[in-house]
Amino acid sequence: MNAIDTYIKTHEDRFLNELLDLLRIPSVSADPKYKADVARCAEAVKTRMEEAGLEKVEICPTAGHPIVYGEKIVDPARPTVLVYGHYDVQPPDPLDLWHSGPFEPVIKDGMIYARGSADDKGQFYMHIKAVECMVKNNALPCNVKVMIEGEEEVGSDNLGVFVKNNKARLKADVVLISDTAMIANDVPSINTGLRGLSYVEVEVTGPNRDLHSGVYGGAVANPINALCEMIASLHDKDRKVTVPGFYDTVRELSKAERDALAEAPFNLDDYKKDLNVKDVRGEAGYTSEERSSIRPTLDVNGIWGGYIGEGAKTVLPSKAFAKLSMRLVPDQKSEPITKLFKDHFEKIAPPGITVVVRPHHGGEAAVTPIDSPAYLAASKAMEETFGKKPIPTRGGGSIPIVALFEAELGLKTVLFGFGLDSDNIHSPNEKYGVFNYFQGIKTIPRFFKHYSASAK
Ligand code: BES
Ligand code: MN
Ligand code: MN
Repeated sequence: MNAIDTYIKTHEDRFLNELLDLLRIPSVSADPKYKADVARCAEAVKTRMEEAGLEKVEICPTAGHPIVYGEKIVDPARPTVLVYGHYDVQPPDPLDLWHSGPFEPVIKDGMIYARGSADDKGQFYMHIKAVECMVKNNALPCNVKVMIEGEEEVGSDNLGVFVKNNKARLKADVVLISDTAMIANDVPSINTGLRGLSYVEVEVTGPNRDLHSGVYGGAVANPINALCEMIASLHDKDRKVTVPGFYDTVRELSKAERDALAEAPFNLDDYKKDLNVKDVRGEAGYTSEERSSIRPTLDVNGIWGGYIGEGAKTVLPSKAFAKLSMRLVPDQKSEPITKLFKDHFEKIAPPGITVVVRPHHGGEAAVTPIDSPAYLAASKAMEETFGKKPIPTRGGGSIPIVALFEAELGLKTVLFGFGLDSDNIHSPNEKYGVFNYFQGIKTIPRFFKHYSASAK
């Protein structure tokens, strides 16, 4: 690996500056006003993939934002790694909480501050640079296919279509994704599970128009009061979700599996201190780590209605709204859970209130093996660069495409993430360590080497 490590050192500044350039493009997929920027970002990714030595690089249009695809086939008889990542980012709001512009990357105390630095530009770009290192040093030991999409943060709907229509092109032996976090820089870990998702929006209607809260208040159902009652009733005193049937398909972990997960270092006091909360709260009978990984949840993501301007306005509003998400675990399935929620939520509406539940997007949970050649290669690669064997952990976030790769292409994934939970992904001041970026670039070629040696 010496030649590659030397190459990385020689090109260090350029590797960093190229990432900063990518971070300057506001590729926000959720907001149509950034559509041209998203397209510009796809172009930049295409150029960078070509420069890295990938071939047949192409911008593949979809009904939404484009997918960038490229490959380098060294020998069809060798195994093929399919690298997936996303160049789209979350909206930067709330802007006033950023210490520097979300799309004006700055490096401070070894951290790269910008929207998308950790999720996922900084992480997928490590793969482009790792490919460059291997290609330019004649050290790419197997085939690589790279697919970077622009709609992960909005549910990857069109990627699903693309995968279904391009099964031959995407044929591979394993999927490699860097879009998750490790425990700490000195405690490397590999995610072996992701949660699924069911996301809905609810509209609650009371009277046909806003009313004077003195003239009508107390006599007519207030949709905001009703929405709050309904939401409050979705958890019982043990913080279990009350939607009937919600837990029916949950695969409980064995004591041995739970014990294994509990091996990962976790300090509850540090956790509370970091978040500035006096106590944690969650489902009875489970630890904080379990509540945020192997257990399903229901959270309100946004709620609005009535008067929220300056001062006071005495009004009994006609409507109230909320966005809710449920994180799902194996073997809960997104669609049936959405249906259970919808039926339940409509049923618990108090008299005089009508409810509409609109499903947004969803995704299925995934669990990845820890005994496959690819996992073992990833583990060995990390052990070499971190000096410690990585711990397998279950993550709480969702990458819906992982379950789809398995269903459509029959492929297992290695979640080769180099971020940290403290990177503020989706939050103001998102950051990614310069150390983590280069550590990824160094580790990925080692994965390729070990994987090629062990597979086929
Ligand atoms: N990279 C994250 C997912 C993630 C983060 C997994 C940290 C594990 C640890 C991804 O970009 C993401 O944010 N996914 C969304 C789901 C999507 C359907 C909007 C999520 O988890 O909310
Ligand atoms: Mn991501
Ligand atoms: Mn994300």
